[in-house]
Amino acid sequence: MPDGHDVSLFTIRNSRGMTARVSEFGAVLVSLEMPDRNGQVADLTLGYDSLEGWSTDNAYLGATVGRFGNRIKDGTFSLDGKTYQLATNNTPGGIPCHLHGGLKGFDKVLWKGEARENSVIFRYLSRDGEEGYLGNLDVTVTYTLTEENELLWEAKAVTDAPTIVNLVHHTYWNLSGDPRQSINDHLLQIHADHFLPTDAGLIPTGQLAAVADTPLDFTSPRLIGERVEEDYEALHLAGGYDHCWVLRPTEGLRLAASLTHPSSGRKMEVFTDQPAIQFYGGNFLDGTIMGKLGHSYAHRTGLCLETENFPDAPNQPSFPSAILRPGEVYQHKMIHRFTTEPTV
Ligand code: GLA
Repeated sequence: MPDGHDVSLFTIRNSRGMTARVSEFGAVLVSLEMPDRNGQVADLTLGYDSLEGWSTDNAYLGATVGRFGNRIKDGTFSLDGKTYQLATNNTPGGIPCHLHGGLKGFDKVLWKGEARENSVIFRYLSRDGEEGYLGNLDVTVTYTLTEENELLWEAKAVTDAPTIVNLVHHTYWNLSGDPRQSINDHLLQIHADHFLPTDAGLIPTGQLAAVADTPLDFTSPRLIGERVEEDYEALHLAGGYDHCWVLRPTEGLRLAASLTHPSSGRKMEVFTDQPAIQFYGGNFLDGTIMGKLGHSYAHRTGLCLETENFPDAPNQPSFPSAILRPGEVYQHKMIHRFTTEPTV
């Protein structure tokens, strides 16, 4: 680090050809390598070759996002009668909002990592007042790579004063393993019947809209590129897919989304215990990011499947609560299960 701190990079391997690399900087997923149906190994994530890349990143590649992932309207919210003002570090449609934790979110801080068999546990203490949030927040994020080809991302947090929390894992996936290729040829299924319509600033209106008969209907597997340019307001506002889908309510873990890359056969299923998932199709990628191996990341060459609580939940009484109080434990579990499918 420029200030002289050392940063550790951890490598976790399983016996089936998968390798995950995770860094103490930002608790980011640096890479995830996996064979295709013919045994050809490739890295399926967008990222950087050096710490400098990760520290100047503004697209949240591989990030552990916090304290509050996704957007908060005007960067302000009230809790127990007091109003808080957070940084407004994002301006979709020219309208300022708070995004992904603020000016220096959890993706830009140094965590403390500890290796355990097939896991790495990262710890970070976010001090009271950091980025305008109340309370000392003690956070752990654990990455695990199993022999069943599952990558687990698990977050926990406790606080000493009431605060808001929405920790989000933000890897950009390209299952082709070649970030020069578009993700529009991936097949996506999202197990959700509703999404959250937004205003021009990408802030949810508070309504739930049915996906049926819209280009946001992924209840059965659909090619991402098939309907992305359709004349549909929600697609226009977000410049493509960048919406929060409301998962069917259930206790515990359930399948939220399945992503398949037909020509390599790679498939990723995302399970979560969270109420929603943001599917972001990489619309803001514009070729300016210089990524791994000198590749620049063009429009829609990576996609995020971010399990989470609802965006702007602190300002929407009808949304699931994002408040964490002393004595409570925030918990978020996310499993990525990788398989390959034979040629069809
Ligand atoms: C999230 C948001 C997008 C965008 C990216 C970061 O996924 O939904 O609108 O801000 O982060 O570029």
